[in-house]
Amino acid sequence: MSYTGKFRVWRGDAEGGELKDYEVEVNEGEVVLDVIHRLQATQTPDMAVRWNCKAGKCGSCSAEINGMPKLMCMCRMNTFAEDEVVTVTPMRTFPVIRDLVTDVSYNYQKAREVPAFKPPADLKPGEYRMQQIDVERSQEFRKCIECFLCQDTCHVIRDHEENKEAFSGPRFLMRVAELDMHPLDAADRQHEAQDQHGLGFCNITKCCTEVCPEHIKITDNALIPMKERVVDRKYDPLVWLGNKIRRR
Ligand code: SF4
Ligand code: F3S
Ligand code: FES
Repeated sequence: MSYTGKFRVWRGDAEGGELKDYEVEVNEGEVVLDVIHRLQATQTPDMAVRWNCKAGKCGSCSAEINGMPKLMCMCRMNTFAEDEVVTVTPMRTFPVIRDLVTDVSYNYQKAREVPAFKPPADLKPGEYRMQQIDVERSQEFRKCIECFLCQDTCHVIRDHEENKEAFSGPRFLMRVAELDMHPLDAADRQHEAQDQHGLGFCNITKCCTEVCPEHIKITDNALIPMKERVVDRKYDPLVWLGNKIRRR
């Protein structure tokens, strides 16, 4: 079963652009990326689109479909009515390079700012042991495919370029939380999360969790527990006393 679908795609570059209307063949079982590829092959050979695996695993084909951050390769055409206009735009939080391709280097910069796992200095090879429960906790976060849809949707930076310097976004706060949960990590992740990565900006709206294609519970399992540990530490009377004494 085929039909002619109506597509509206953002075309342009860093200088500016506009939504353009197209009519393109849609076949049974296809996803948005298939139709975008057909558009490229038949009408718009110069249209820029980033993709790689077509299986929801590389995180390259992130875009906004009818305003919702999604992977184009995982968005089925049968979720739309045949006469519905499907609007495809680039991720709004990152600068456009061309058409549907954005410059996501903000994320790479933030990734570099998270110091690597730091084991205690006296730990010898062969002594890296941890409980299964600790392994499983971080396993969930390791499912991240770095599609940056959570970063795209978070309102702290979505329309606020000025917050990008101070806020690393849910993906990288989750990374800091993962390291903080690691029983052998000796770095001070709690101060790091608050001071270098802007944990305080997050007001738990959970939009990041809603768009994650890997269904990682970013807010409930990483950000909220991290906030709780930061608060516990700040208001823990022993920590408070320790800080007072140290400051003297
Ligand atoms: Fe994508 Fe989810 Fe990873 Fe965010 S946490 S980058 S939404 S896979
Ligand atoms: Fe942003 Fe997610 Fe927090 S959307 S505000 S990081 S809960
Ligand atoms: Fe790899 Fe869509 S092409 S996630």
